[in-house]
Amino acid sequence: MKDIILTGDRPTGNLHLGHYIGSLKKRIELQDEGNYEKYYVMIADTQALTDNAQNVDKVKNNIIQVAIDYISAGIDPSKVKIFIQSMVSPLHEFTSYFMNLVTLSRLQRNPTIKEEIKQRGFETSLPIGFINYPISQAADILAFGTTIAPVGGDQLPMFEQAREIVQSFNNTYQPSEEIFVMPKAIVSENKAFQRLPGLDGKLKMSKSAGNSIYLCDDTETVKEKVMKAYTDANHIKVTDPGQIEGNVVFTYLDAFSKPAHFAMFLPEYKNLEELKNHYRRGGLGDVKVKKFLINVLEDFLSPIREKRKQCLNHIDDIYNMLFENSRQASIDANARLEKMKDAMGLNYKKFLK
Ligand code: TRP
Repeated sequence: MKDIILTGDRPTGNLHLGHYIGSLKKRIELQDEGNYEKYYVMIADTQALTDNAQNVDKVKNNIIQVAIDYISAGIDPSKVKIFIQSMVSPLHEFTSYFMNLVTLSRLQRNPTIKEEIKQRGFETSLPIGFINYPISQAADILAFGTTIAPVGGDQLPMFEQAREIVQSFNNTYQPSEEIFVMPKAIVSENKAFQRLPGLDGKLKMSKSAGNSIYLCDDTETVKEKVMKAYTDANHIKVTDPGQIEGNVVFTYLDAFSKPAHFAMFLPEYKNLEELKNHYRRGGLGDVKVKKFLINVLEDFLSPIREKRKQCLNHIDDIYNMLFENSRQASIDANARLEKMKDAMGLNYKKFLK
């Protein structure tokens, strides 16, 4: 059986290198392999509102930004249906019924939710919608019969929750045919890429931490950011031995440099291993490594910027595409919703003679 792929992001800001290496890259690979029956990428505006109720404009304006980021990075709208969550109303119905199958204490144990509650200072002012979002995300995933989802590492608990809902639904309603498929998250094998560290070397790259390089950053911005990036606090003089672990400049090189970049920009070294060894030994300055990283990132980002420019001339077409895809996604989700309600016994039309 071919895969049904669904994944997505919250439109709270532009996508950054962490998004790319954590999941976009894999999404594009899966797209190019072409071994799927359907492929959806959802812009999760409803989910974004669960901690942005007062910021509807921010969420609304970022929908097109995220769509442009997707297309510029290589998501091909002729192969992948990008749609808007809030325009697919059956998802809310799935959520309502799933809410009866999950306990509050189960949601409170979700490790991603726990961390996000802390980050947002929600301990005493937790919106119900926010703690409920793993259920609404399960609805996104299950409504389409998703088999696999390329996502960042922090999304794993959401898939566990979705699988539990499938089990609970089956135990509760004993459907005579399979309605929901067990979904599987696909994450990068490299732990550092699952949550790429930010420029500060502390937190993961995220909009709220202000430590990100965005796919839409211009050359000057990328230069400035890389020059300020955290390396190794004990590598003070060029001659000092340096540490690679926890050094974000090397983490980014792991993620983005290719063997050909050495011949292009730093021919004194054959490959990244050689560069790392020199840094460890001492005698290699941060500025030289950072300049190389700037070249590597420029090589990666320039075509994305070019595509972005083209997209900016087709905003109406992109919106129309999103609306049409959302309409089609609603049809797909509705088909499964009807089956679900039938299996639950919510089929009152049977009372009619
Ligand atoms: N939780 C995801 C994020 O934080 C967005 C998302 C919503 C999602 N629904 C989804 C991802 C379904 C994968 C599948 O960006």
